[in-house]
Amino acid sequence: MNVIHRRGWEIPEREATPEHLFFDRRNLLKAGLALGAGSMLPGVAAAQADNPSAALFPAKRNETYTLDRPLTAEDITSRYNNFYEFGQAKNIYQAAQRLETRPWVIKIDGMIEKPFEIGIDDLMAKMGLEERLYRLRCVEAWSMTIPWTGFPMKKLVELAKPQSGVQYLRMETFLDPKVAPGQRQVWYPWPYVEGVTMAEAMNELTFVVTGAYGKPLAKQHGAPIRLHSPWKYGFKGVKSIKRITFTNERPKSYWEALQASEYGFWANVNPEVAHPRWSQATEEVLGTGNRVPTLKWNGYGEYVADMYKGLEKEKLYM
Ligand code: MTE
Repeated sequence: MNVIHRRGWEIPEREATPEHLFFDRRNLLKAGLALGAGSMLPGVAAAQADNPSAALFPAKRNETYTLDRPLTAEDITSRYNNFYEFGQAKNIYQAAQRLETRPWVIKIDGMIEKPFEIGIDDLMAKMGLEERLYRLRCVEAWSMTIPWTGFPMKKLVELAKPQSGVQYLRMETFLDPKVAPGQRQVWYPWPYVEGVTMAEAMNELTFVVTGAYGKPLAKQHGAPIRLHSPWKYGFKGVKSIKRITFTNERPKSYWEALQASEYGFWANVNPEVAHPRWSQATEEVLGTGNRVPTLKWNGYGEYVADMYKGLEKEKLYM
């Protein structure tokens, strides 16, 4: 992502270039990556081998959520990632293979009946999995569409039994600078944190993702468990979640902590509200070379717009 870093002198200028200006097939080929070799992708084959939950995939598709465009090829989405723990470039897919995703225990705590820990395989078995086709719109003005596998966050909230009146869910990524070189950059506010309101967590669209393309999630996409709220900018989709806390304090996200004038809590997609440094009116659809108009709520308004009635004073679109 694109921030004016507090210590701008430590970051090369090219890293402040919006990525849609340099993503193209030629660059991928220059990097020596032949397209179409899906089975060779780091993380994609690896995600299936030795995965105790492999039998849960592919999950049955929930046909409720339809797309207005084709799916983005797996060999594009799995080589073009934002996962700052492994570096600021888009091609962190190899570096991300160092992340050990088993055992993977998630701590669920805060204002709930009884805090607990649960292993990812137990959690998936308990929740049951389904597939949903969702768009993802990055704040950097590119987008993709992925067949995600996972379960509605609502089910996890019900499992946790929150106390009445709880307002927010705070989610936190792993913290292990030995594995994740980005986390050795101590001036960043690690671990990566994101949050949603309880109403957002209970919205039917909010999806806890554990797989994609009919397989367990590749590490570069945030294995073994991440969030995806398709009407919000992609940075809300915290990867490799280790802890979920129910709280009445609005969580301060990683990007908000870094640059609050540019990235806020709500981050709902809106083409009419520009980022302070670039327009959000259009987006590059990865893998096509096309720019298309961006849709308000990323096209999911019928499911989510009502949640924000009465909140107009909030900065809903950053
Ligand atoms: N989660 C963590 N832990 N670290 C990150 O750097 N980047 C976010 C989000 N989740 C990020 C993260 C951003 S900016 C985007 S656009 C999406 O992940 C990208 O998801 P993808 O790489 O699977 O496409």
